[in-house]
Amino acid sequence: MNILILNGPNLNMIGKREPEIYGTKTYEDLESYLKSLESVFNVTLDIKQSNLEGILIDLLHYGNDRFDGVILNAGAFTHYSYALYDAIKSIQIPVVEVHLSDINNREDFRKVSVIRAACVKSIMGLGFDGYKQGIKYLIEEGVLK
Ligand code: DQA
Repeated sequence: MNILILNGPNLNMIGKREPEIYGTKTYEDLESYLKSLESVFNVTLDIKQSNLEGILIDLLHYGNDRFDGVILNAGAFTHYSYALYDAIKSIQIPVVEVHLSDINNREDFRKVSVIRAACVKSIMGLGFDGYKQGIKYLIEEGVLK
């Protein structure tokens, strides 16, 4: 099983960025954590990050024939990118929405996720563990083809 982990804008800045919200662990720490999950779940993870909406869309399209599912932290695009919503709707593999922070308990604009309805599941507020829960969901719910 191959899962694409897609991280959007500013996630490369965790560790330095608002540590009171995102913690002090860096993006490299997140990558190492995710890599350690490969043997736990017997899956292959391809981990990508981009600050550009179009690249995230291209990666979703690219992933359609190459992966069994996607874990997507779309960063702030979550709250306004209908183009990402359309990209998720355009592909046949399941996409799980993940957020490090609890977007329901922050600024009002974060309470809206325009991509949620296109995703099979939304997980938030669990930090790095949210990615693990997302992978577990794809495997255990049999969503992976
Ligand atoms: C985030 C939440 C978003 O609102 C924010 O814009 C991010 C990170 C999270 O992981 O908590 O960049 O997706």
